[in-house]
Amino acid sequence: MGSLIEVENLKKSYPLANGESQNVLHGVTLDIDDGEFIAIMGRSGSGKSTFMNILGTLDTPTSGVCRIDGKDTGQMDDRELSILRNHTIGFVFQNFNLISRRSILDNVAMPMLYAGTERKRRRDMAQSYIELVGLKGYENRMPNQLSGGQQQRVAIARALIAGPRIILADEPTGNLDSGTAADIMNLLKVVNESRITILMVTHEYKMTDYATRVIHFKDGLAMDDQYK
Ligand SMILES: Nc1ncnc2c1ncn2[C@@H]1O[C@H](COP(=O)(O)OP(=O)(O)O)[C@@H](O)[C@H]1O
Ligand SMILES: [Mg+2]
Repeated sequence: MGSLIEVENLKKSYPLANGESQNVLHGVTLDIDDGEFIAIMGRSGSGKSTFMNILGTLDTPTSGVCRIDGKDTGQMDDRELSILRNHTIGFVFQNFNLISRRSILDNVAMPMLYAGTERKRRRDMAQSYIELVGLKGYENRMPNQLSGGQQQRVAIARALIAGPRIILADEPTGNLDSGTAADIMNLLKVVNESRITILMVTHEYKMTDYATRVIHFKDGLAMDDQYK
């Protein structure tokens, strides 16, 4: 049995205006097993977000391979990619990325709308995930009527509703005060305990306490890979 995620010699370069190119990822190789909680650290500009976006198939590598459950994502067709993005992977972002004109219930239910689930079931499922993240009673509020920590809980509920195996979280606590950040980390830990694999980018060493493995990105490579 292979690992859940296998990354082999992943490279990414961006073309620059002067005709040269900037190499962001220099050949990242990593194996990630089912159930791991990985914290990715590294200075700003070290390619962490680029790496996460390629894993999530929101961006494509210049070369190298990324396999999820043994399947090369670079070889997937549109149908397989949409299953991967809508069901296998849940995304959590620093700025929450909620739809501002939709209620909390609608935001959480949104992935099930794309999946074609009928309305009543969509709403029931959203309700149960809203309760799971501790926001019962907030269903009809709009995102701007919630605190940052509450908005991130909504984003986590939305990431969980389609039953993903992997959560990709790019600086999920980057916009939160330290107390609220700890609450969000505890929620991610509970999510991980239900055997959902988590890859989280963080700036703060404190946040690595919650992880089972810490990887540092340096000069476009994954270094100091340590299990805790
Ligand atoms: N779409 C893009 N076009 C050109 N350069 C980019 C693009 N996205 C990121 N970069 C560059 O790649 C480098 C790594 O960025 P990023 O992956 O966002 O780093 P991190 O998340 O570690 O701060 C940065 O120097 C950034 O300017
Ligand atoms: Mg980043």
